[in-house]
Amino acid sequence: MRKIVVASIKGGVGKTTVSFNLARSLKRLGFSVGYLDADITAPTGSEAFGLEKPPDWELDAAADGGRGAIVPYNVDGIQFITLASHFGQAPAVLWNEERKIDAARQLLQGVVAWDNLDWLILDTPPSSSGEMQALYDYITDLHGVVLVFQPTDMAAADLLRTLDFLKFKTVPILGLVSNMSYCRSPLGESFWPFLSPKVDLAAICEKFGIPLLGEIPLTPDKKMVEQAFNQIASRLDGTKPVILKEDIFKRLIREGKKNLLKAAVRRL
Ligand SMILES: Nc1ncnc2c1ncn2[C@@H]1O[C@H](COP(=O)(O)OP(=O)(O)OP(=O)(O)O)[C@@H](O)[C@H]1O
Ligand SMILES: [Mg+2]
Repeated sequence: MRKIVVASIKGGVGKTTVSFNLARSLKRLGFSVGYLDADITAPTGSEAFGLEKPPDWELDAAADGGRGAIVPYNVDGIQFITLASHFGQAPAVLWNEERKIDAARQLLQGVVAWDNLDWLILDTPPSSSGEMQALYDYITDLHGVVLVFQPTDMAAADLLRTLDFLKFKTVPILGLVSNMSYCRSPLGESFWPFLSPKVDLAAICEKFGIPLLGEIPLTPDKKMVEQAFNQIASRLDGTKPVILKEDIFKRLIREGKKNLLKAAVRRL
């Protein structure tokens, strides 16, 4: 089973959209796929699948050597688990850090009875704190992280934080998806839809030796998005993960990139 974590410290850039679409594209390629909505505080996987409410958990008492396990819900042939099934629909999650870390551990260590997966996609929260660290600590045989960012300068600051975090955790990176990358009017003209300036994510990827897996337009056209993800999913199959070796902040200091440094928070 190849396990992929879809991650970004920046919120709202499309982690859930990418997780959901990657799962569907890999399924279309004939693979057996699981989707673990591991965003403990704000799980939105059910909405991505268009479900009316989070699925009820079904328990298999005999699984995991008689200790019992949760059977994933089958949605369009994808095995799906979300903590929203535990919390119910949309109450605030008031768990403390310790409890969230324990939930991350349980989700990754035997609580879910996945059935013969080729790929497991983990949708994660926009964070580098306890539960996100726990996901990296407790996941075994992680194939790699798929980063998701928008090509805005606001997102780029968080991209540096995310890379710093992944370097710190020595986590393999499969590549980056540039989401909401461009926009076209109905007449086919390109325009920039954000307040913050555009940055060249391809150049940043090249700088750090990270493959750019693909660019997704900002669009309500689901077919267009689907096609872009089909290409990314085929590419993923043959991509070799990389581990960042050099401390990115030392490198930026060496290269005199003070403007980027100003925007990025250093590890304390
Ligand atoms: N390429 C796109 N085109 C149009 N809308 C998009 C695109 N990608 C994401 N969206 C929309 O942007 C919003 C945020 O996306 P999404 O929930 O996937 O982000 P996220 O990174 O998972 O957020 P969070 O950090 O809160 O988990 C959603 O309403 C989603 O439908
Ligand atoms: Mg999300």
